[in-house]
Amino acid sequence: MIKHDVLIVGAGLAGMRAALEVCRDLDVGLLTKVYPSRSHSGAAQGGIAAALGNSEDDSWEEHMFDTVKGGDYLSDQDAVEEYVKAAPRVIYELEHMGCTFSRTEDGKIAQRSFGGHSKPRACFSADRTGHAILHALHEQVLKNAKSIKIYSEWYMHQLVIEEGRCSGVVVSNIRTGEVEVIHAKAVIFATGGYGRVFKITTNAFASTADGAMAAFHAGIPLEDTEFVQFHPSGLYRQGILFSEAARGEGGYLLNGKGERFMEQYAPSRMELAPRDIVARAEQSEIDAGRGVNGEACIHLDLRHLGEARIMERLPQIRQLGIDFIGVDCVKEPLPIQPSAHYSMGGIPTDMFGQVVIDPDNTPMEGFFAAGECACVSVHGANRLGTNSLLEATVFGERTGRSVLKYAKNAEFGKVNESHERARVLNQIEEIFQRDGSENYNDIRNEMKEVMMEKCGVFRDAENLKSCIAAIQGLKERCKKGKVTDKGKLFNTELYEIIELGNMLEIAEIISTAALARTESRGGHYRTDFPKRDDQDFLKHSLVYPKDGQLELKYKSVVVTRYQPKERTY
Ligand code: FUM
Repeated sequence: MIKHDVLIVGAGLAGMRAALEVCRDLDVGLLTKVYPSRSHSGAAQGGIAAALGNSEDDSWEEHMFDTVKGGDYLSDQDAVEEYVKAAPRVIYELEHMGCTFSRTEDGKIAQRSFGGHSKPRACFSADRTGHAILHALHEQVLKNAKSIKIYSEWYMHQLVIEEGRCSGVVVSNIRTGEVEVIHAKAVIFATGGYGRVFKITTNAFASTADGAMAAFHAGIPLEDTEFVQFHPSGLYRQGILFSEAARGEGGYLLNGKGERFMEQYAPSRMELAPRDIVARAEQSEIDAGRGVNGEACIHLDLRHLGEARIMERLPQIRQLGIDFIGVDCVKEPLPIQPSAHYSMGGIPTDMFGQVVIDPDNTPMEGFFAAGECACVSVHGANRLGTNSLLEATVFGERTGRSVLKYAKNAEFGKVNESHERARVLNQIEEIFQRDGSENYNDIRNEMKEVMMEKCGVFRDAENLKSCIAAIQGLKERCKKGKVTDKGKLFNTELYEIIELGNMLEIAEIISTAALARTESRGGHYRTDFPKRDDQDFLKHSLVYPKDGQLELKYKSVVVTRYQPKERTY
């Protein structure tokens, strides 16, 4: 059995930032199913928010208000306050770790505008900010190789929970196929989100809900899963991200008639309204037949910015357009559509990363989570752009610190190694034994279609019920699939089937929570209940597993400084 003081699953920003805290005094295992620098954090482009005030006066209070309003008042405000106050320090720390930020003429860290932020507070590295931070953190992790052992291309199957305490995880080495138990005093999940359940998504192939579902299978609820963010500028039909920075730099959104339609939807903020509002505006234009050439897309027009500015601020976007569709944004507009981007919900935690399991915030000892897989909740019902890189670094650090404190004073918990291994080996054997005619790729594609169509930007009861029925049908069909590769070495087919099982389960959880929330708030819009309903729904949802079914409970939102009021832009 492998043993570490602390085991972290996921080597994106949150996981690596946590590892750098824990390794100050303890030995860390950092396990990831993709090589660390390929983590999805690297796909975040436009910036990381902090009220540095480098080009206009700014304050943490304004950052906090924008975040709470952007989240449609579902954020826990005690956590938001800690988070925005930490932001400026965190930016300078990243800089000192080697992250190269773009600069103003006088050498300060440059800041640009982003949707829903009332001041320019996105610190950026051209349009490769996540990439720049990811590499800086990876270098720091490699520098600490004596106390951080990286398990690259290992798959995490399940948590080990004994006597109400988390004592490790069961994993596979993807290269050899060996199933192993890793024993640890504490486990941190930093496993990312689950955008891959939708057909059009900005998310990497790895974003398949493995962490969320491992927690759920251990009896831990998932919080606010109905809130999924659609980014307004994913490449048409493919979802590849064209950063919101393009609009922050002055880009326009045009419908098929060449109109800047945001004037009708958010006149004071136009293209820089929060993402939920812009994505709905785009979808409304498309549904009304005003998409470009009658198709389901909108134009992102950057031509007026000029080649020099595009090359300085948005070089990756230009190259992506050229490489993927042969469109050079210096000369032509880019076709875009709303694309599933970010999971506001996830594994419930307190503001120290401690996983909590009920409306009273009872802790699950030894288990922590940070980054997109966690729901703290700072983003509430809708995250503002650039607040996710900040969340990953701030809560990665905070979680690392609290785990260090916890694990320094804790003993190793109990683990029944043979029992834990057997559970996973049996699951793998059951998949190998299936001998039906169903094709897993067809099932995956149908899941993505149905989630996009019936549980996407606009939702209603009829579509959500039919979505749940369709997902349940797909789960049944999964049992009648057939594996073509039963080998052990690099059996990617096996892990894709396990990931598909996880995605079908989270799809059912998302749509069930969405059906129960009979109001519209942030990223969750019900055409049959178009108003926000604070009386009945100013609360977080918690979905539990119960006797093979789903059970819903709710918990209160923490409101401190800003009372809910109408959200207009
Ligand atoms: O559009 C973007 O650059 C994405 C940033 C984010 O999601 O924070």
